[in-house]
Amino acid sequence: MAESAPPNILSIRGLSRTFRNQGKEVRAVHDLDLVIPAGSFTVILGPSGCGKTTFLRLVAGLETADAGHIDFASPLQHPSRSRFGFMFQEPRLLPWLTVEENLRLAFPTKADAKTGEEINHLLGLVGLEGWKKAYPRSLSGGMAQRAALARALCRKPELLLLDEPFGALDAFTRARLRRDLDALWKSLQVTVILVTHDIEEAVYLADRVIRMKDGGIEGCLDISLPRPREQRSGNFQNLCRLIEEAL
Ligand SMILES: Nc1ncnc2c1ncn2[C@@H]1O[C@H](COP(=O)(O)OP(=O)(O)O)[C@@H](O)[C@H]1O
Ligand SMILES: [Mg+2]
Repeated sequence: MAESAPPNILSIRGLSRTFRNQGKEVRAVHDLDLVIPAGSFTVILGPSGCGKTTFLRLVAGLETADAGHIDFASPLQHPSRSRFGFMFQEPRLLPWLTVEENLRLAFPTKADAKTGEEINHLLGLVGLEGWKKAYPRSLSGGMAQRAALARALCRKPELLLLDEPFGALDAFTRARLRRDLDALWKSLQVTVILVTHDIEEAVYLADRVIRMKDGGIEGCLDISLPRPREQRSGNFQNLCRLIEEAL
């Protein structure tokens, strides 16, 4: 019997946001429709300025839409959970606090022992065990992004929104974090929307790649290669080429 499709966690219709920039109207997001299946990994790919960040901010409620609807399929499952975890291109850790203290700020309850255990668990998940007493200045760029990912996961978000999270890292570190995120996504079964302008990153991580252009969706491609994906394989490279030609 065919497997039934997972329910949608999020349905977006007619989403629009215009900015006034130096006297000119900029349609950052325009009449955008999208559904996000629960547990899926969606990658939004597009050139700088096409509206990717504005789209993520609208989904997270950090920006107000001029028009359109964003509907969650269900009410929040538990008050200790959050709808969203957000991660940016820069780690945005507070430099005067340790890794542990940075994470503590993100928890709904403060200093109890359980929070301490959860912090250890999260740091283990992102490969930072042993680093909780470290200050951000002593972390490499990749480690700081790992800490930022752990912070985004503190409240067990239903939806993880990642805005070019590896964009500022060197190619080697980026490839390692990409592999670790792939494994983490599978083990946590969280729904992810990741924004990037890196085609290989998109093909490595996505169930579905959405190409954005001028605030709208230009095309979609489902990717069903088995995971973890082999970047040197012919199928992988063909998909990258297909997307590159379409952009
Ligand atoms: N707060 C803002 N005020 C004015 N213009 C903005 C603002 N945020 C984004 N824009 C404009 O909207 C467009 C899309 O920006 P953005 O969503 O940041 O694109 P991307 O993340 O794809 O690079 C750009 O032209 C940008 O200058
Ligand atoms: Mg952006």
